[in-house]
Amino acid sequence: MARKWPVILGLLVGLGMLLTGFASGASVVEQWQLAARWTARAGFPLFLATYLASSLVRISPAPWSRALARDRRWWGLGFAASHTVHFIALVMATRLSPEPRTIVSLIPGGVAYAFILLMALTSSNTAMRALGRNWKRLHAAGIHVIWLIYTLAYAKRIPEPASRTIGLIMTALALTALAIRLAARRKQPRPALA
Ligand code: HEM
Repeated sequence: MARKWPVILGLLVGLGMLLTGFASGASVVEQWQLAARWTARAGFPLFLATYLASSLVRISPAPWSRALARDRRWWGLGFAASHTVHFIALVMATRLSPEPRTIVSLIPGGVAYAFILLMALTSSNTAMRALGRNWKRLHAAGIHVIWLIYTLAYAKRIPEPASRTIGLIMTALALTALAIRLAARRKQPRPALA
């Protein structure tokens, strides 16, 4: 149980952002929009922890990076928990929005959600054994699809003056995370984990 606390953290952070959206929005539509925005934002550090866990332990082996790499499954499930709350908020925001979304605009996020679900459902030793090499393929593809959706979602906020700062900061973080992963690939194989 001690290692599973990132899952509880993800759920609490997601629900906390949902409540913050409710407390801040001037109308019901705005409340759900803010809840969607902040649940996605709060999930980003959890995602980065999962995305970088194996790379950080290669680049900087230390007790903290070993613990992060050892518990990366739970960080990933914590991200899935927070993004489940984002899902609830986005469904409500989309339903209430006066500007309907096209089906096409839902495809990239929908694909990312399909990966989040599959990755969460296969985050067990039993699933790893059953899927063999396909487990690694699924999780490698999924983590990069989620990275791409985050990066595009933030990059497209850069042209808007109101969201430029958050767009720039988060896009820079996403690109830095990619650079760290690429740098880690050049290093020695990851040390064995407890
Ligand atoms: C079909 C699926 C999805 C829909 C309909 C959707 C909808 C929304 C909505 C309504 C917002 C609030 C927009 C605002 O700022 O007013 C939002 C924000 C956001 N969503 Fe989602 N979302 C989806 C999936 C995803 C996924 C899978 C990710 C990441 C992997 C993601 C990342 C984001 C980000 C980064 C923001 C902006 C947060 C910020 O401003 O800091 N979304 N989304």
